[in-house]
Amino acid sequence: MLDFTWRRLAPARISGLVLFLCAASIGMMLSTASPAAAADPPDDHQQALASLANVKAAIDELVRVDASYSTDRNVYHHASQQAINLLAGEHGDGYVAGPDLTNPGAGAIGHIDSLLDRKASPTWAEPLHGSLVNLLAAVSYLQDSLKARELMDYQLSASRAIAYLEVARGRPTETGVLGGLEGALANTVLGVPEGATQVDGCGTPSSAPSYGTHNGYLAWVAVPAGDGSHALPEATGGTEIVTGNGVIMLRTAAASLVSAACNRHTELIPPPVDSSSALPAEFHSMVIPAAASVGSDPGTAAAANPPALYTKVQAKAGARLFATTCAKCHGANLQGSAAPSVAGDDFLLTAKRNGWTLAIVRYLVVNNMPMNSPSSLTPTQYASLMAFLLASNCYPAGETPFPDTTDPSFATIKLGPVPGTHPGRNGKGVCKVG
Ligand code: HEC
Repeated sequence: MLDFTWRRLAPARISGLVLFLCAASIGMMLSTASPAAAADPPDDHQQALASLANVKAAIDELVRVDASYSTDRNVYHHASQQAINLLAGEHGDGYVAGPDLTNPGAGAIGHIDSLLDRKASPTWAEPLHGSLVNLLAAVSYLQDSLKARELMDYQLSASRAIAYLEVARGRPTETGVLGGLEGALANTVLGVPEGATQVDGCGTPSSAPSYGTHNGYLAWVAVPAGDGSHALPEATGGTEIVTGNGVIMLRTAAASLVSAACNRHTELIPPPVDSSSALPAEFHSMVIPAAASVGSDPGTAAAANPPALYTKVQAKAGARLFATTCAKCHGANLQGSAAPSVAGDDFLLTAKRNGWTLAIVRYLVVNNMPMNSPSSLTPTQYASLMAFLLASNCYPAGETPFPDTTDPSFATIKLGPVPGTHPGRNGKGVCKVG
């Protein structure tokens, strides 16, 4: 093999623009390398791209009509129907044919359905399942918007639909793309076009263009460093650009996960808690750490003694409130359904990775939740909900209630997995309350 010396151009923080340009450059050349025959059924990669294109088109449609300031109700209803068509597809519920309406074929949901319609469960199945749930929720809000007679009612339903669509699409973060379709395309083999050169992601590229994959994850994409432009079909949201031997290598957010697996000469086993900081949050919906290993690791004792921030009574009151006002989106067991999980390994790793403090999470809950009616609860009710969330995340109860207003100390409390053994913790790392 060539003696390949990699030069780091930029560690971790690359400006969004550079990444976008770079990401935008790489794929066209890779995908034009393997044009699929017209009659062939679309491969996985193309299906995912088609689904994503439909989701984006639906978002664009809703955003465009919102910016039109039209006073004609029909204009808004037309946009909603157009978005429903794009999502549901011609065989989906709610599809309406019309001369000025798009027929998107399978539609975003149809494409995901056929991707998930298989016995094996590929690495990308989890984020795609999440997308599907969010797309269905968006369609149901769009159907509500069709019934709206007042602009305000329309906007409420449409903006909720957009929120779900954004989650289905995937959330870009500094280190990559979180979940959804873009997350799956950026970090798993779903992002590799059919016929493209795929090599083991444990190594470095010896030729370009090529894709480095390992156990279903995409660790890097390589393009020649010569003149000219390349375009990726999708933003990969890489974390790092490395050059060497005439090749530009874009490391994805999955790269650290893959190299950890390579160094251990093992398969991609979910890491124990003390290495969980190496797990990109982007994978919170792709890799669920084994619950048994989280917290029972003796190596984490130093981080023990998390603060007691609420009382048991409060947490129980919060549990009742959660069931009536939050569970329909976040799941009865806080595991996430239409919306992200709010407790357990999945949520805590996201929190840890993003550096969420108690102040941030409290702010999110008090100002944005419940998403269908933000700030609609009393300060005492929000305090109970925060107590419930902390309890469900295995934080200990104490004598002092969670306060009705924020506290300066909350900005210094970083949320993350709570070490120690927790009887009553379920397989997803959620502690039972009550
Ligand atoms: C109508 C659906 C809906 C309801 C009801 C709802 N949420 Fe949410 N919630 C969401 C969505 C969607 C997000 C993700 C928002 C985003 O990514 O910007 C979210 C995010 C959150 C987050 C941050 C988690 C993360 O990973 O982004 C917390 C915490 C949260 N909600 C708590 C609550 C609580 C507590 C309630 C009840 C008072 C509640 N939510 C009710 C839809 C909902």
